[in-house]
Amino acid sequence: MTSKLLSTLPSDLNPEKIPQHIAVIMDGNGRWATSRGLPRIAGHRQGAKTLKELLRCCKDWGVKALTAYAFSTENWQRPVEEVDFLMHLFERLLHRELAQMLREGVRISFIGDLSALPKSLQTEMERSMTETLNNQAIHFTVAVNYGSRNEITKVCRQVAQLVQQGKLNAEQVNESLVEQHLYTADTPEPDLLIRTSGEMRLSNFLLWQMAYTEMYFTDILWPDFNREAFHQALLSYQRRVGVARRRHRRFGQLKASLSA
Ligand code: IPE
Ligand code: IPE
Ligand code: MG
Repeated sequence: MTSKLLSTLPSDLNPEKIPQHIAVIMDGNGRWATSRGLPRIAGHRQGAKTLKELLRCCKDWGVKALTAYAFSTENWQRPVEEVDFLMHLFERLLHRELAQMLREGVRISFIGDLSALPKSLQTEMERSMTETLNNQAIHFTVAVNYGSRNEITKVCRQVAQLVQQGKLNAEQVNESLVEQHLYTADTPEPDLLIRTSGEMRLSNFLLWQMAYTEMYFTDILWPDFNREAFHQALLSYQRRVGVARRRHRRFGQLKASLSA
């Protein structure tokens, strides 16, 4: 009964204006830990709990896709102990949470250059993607060793090879072809981006995909980003989108192409 009550959408949120796809840049784990006199890795551990809670909340509130930035192509430059800890954390979490994700209808995907990750992690990732492939409740994508510039460069290389092999004319290269070669080919673009910890930049995340995404920045550090903080982000989104669909979010046209 209690969990049923908790899972209800807050009454001030409009169920018809829930973003279908939310992207999150989970930032501030290190600062959260340091401010408590803890090692940075304690922040990552707590941050993983936050992500698990957010995934459940998204599912409860009718969000159909959640994409989380867990490790960027630039994050390899961190101290080796921190990188190792994160790789082990991803693997442990996947191992531990897979059964529950299966039960709850979560489809999990990973995007990024996975080939550079530890082999045992790659195996867990492959297994979880295969086992949850037909799940429908929510599509949960985790970006690991992901960088947009790397992704777009990879697309350029693949398309150039097709042209070189004579399978494609240069004139046939268009936006939809580029999109088909992105990691996110089967996912609609994010409607809302949330970044925590007060930083206001994209840090090489989904640059192509977020051309028209609404953005929400909060000073809250990722490990503290709870249901109430998420509720506030959605309220802000809904206030803007009510107007935006009619006025601003019109994808460069004079009239909005989406109905209000
Ligand atoms: C985000 O938190 C998590 C990862 C990048 C893996 P940070 O580790 O960047 O935390 P801050 O920004 O140093 O506080
Ligand atoms: C972005 O956070 C990457 C992830 C959240 C995984 P960072 O903390 O690495 O980004 P910068 O260095 O502040 O741009
Ligand atoms: Mg950071």
